[in-house]
Amino acid sequence: MIYLDNAATSFPKPEKVYEAIMSVMKDYGANPGRSGHKLALKAGRGIYETRELLSKLFNISNPMNIIFTSNATDGLNLAIKGILKPGDHVITTSMEHNSVLRPLKALEKLGIETSIVQCDSKGCISVQDIEDNINEDTKLIITTHASNVTGTIFPIKEIGNIADKNNIIYMVDAAQTAGVYDIDVENMKIDILAFPGHKSLLGPQGTGGVYIREGIDVMQMKEGGTGSKSDLLIQPEMLPDKFESGTPNTPGIIGLGAGVQYILDKGIENIRKHEKNMTKYFLDELKKIELVRIYGPCDAEKQAPVVSINIGDEDSSEVSYILDKVFDIGVRPGLHCAPLAHKTIGTFEQGTVRFSLGTFTTHQDIEKALEAIKNIVNEI
Ligand code: ALA
Repeated sequence: MIYLDNAATSFPKPEKVYEAIMSVMKDYGANPGRSGHKLALKAGRGIYETRELLSKLFNISNPMNIIFTSNATDGLNLAIKGILKPGDHVITTSMEHNSVLRPLKALEKLGIETSIVQCDSKGCISVQDIEDNINEDTKLIITTHASNVTGTIFPIKEIGNIADKNNIIYMVDAAQTAGVYDIDVENMKIDILAFPGHKSLLGPQGTGGVYIREGIDVMQMKEGGTGSKSDLLIQPEMLPDKFESGTPNTPGIIGLGAGVQYILDKGIENIRKHEKNMTKYFLDELKKIELVRIYGPCDAEKQAPVVSINIGDEDSSEVSYILDKVFDIGVRPGLHCAPLAHKTIGTFEQGTVRFSLGTFTTHQDIEKALEAIKNIVNEI
């Protein structure tokens, strides 16, 4: 299959990721941080190495401030629900995924107020609009780094500066950018960074994490065994134990480490350059095809490698079905769990056909996708 659904999960993964996971499973899959024998220590070291690699990638000074979760949604829920209290106000945007919007909607019932800043029809945010929504109760600003529908890249450094100036916590959902775009939590003044392990970080599904800046008070969502301070009946306060109760996904986390190592070895700028070139070519050629409507910035400099289109008035699910069945091309149709983003760009009824490129996408894959789109256009 020509796999163009990397925004949902990346596929394939580097060989070293498969090897690392298999090695944990077969050679040393003991429970890390519990027992003191050789295998448990090796598993624990492997997990710590993944924390270190992620810290290097995101310029995080203390690896212990990274909490492993099962995906970005988990990390976002942990931080959103652990920070906000009745009476607090939070600012977010109309391009967010349901992983941000649904927790916030649920919290409204507890007396937490949300302002959703409207983006323009290309999915772009006005930083001024965010600033204008700040009030004395604003505790948190949450934005995506790049939309999972249009790829639109947000000016997170500028937003981080505004949050910092106003003493507000800034949380970034890096679901579509971690592993492709430079993210520096210090320089960008990001207080909370949620990321999936299984997208551009090239790890397996069931991995992800959240960075929590030192000193931010976040309530844990669960309590349990951590392998530390076992004499106490209360949850330890130290990170990451406070948030990492229960046996972790050791094979997954060590596999994620292999993915991050691959990125560091290859150079994130080289990965970005490749994906940018592929996206540019795809956009340039799509613009020439009659009946194709492209959403978002339509500019590879301003968007992550996510391209949403429609063909005339054809249903997006129908087009995706044809791409799969007839042309063996995998894409994602519909609303992409981001209903307000689709309302923002005017595709709430039709959805879009989303092509998302990855580090292993080739020029030939793009040619085949363009050919298939032209064929579908000719048939309708
Ligand atoms: N959030 C993922 C996507 O956009 C699953 O497809």
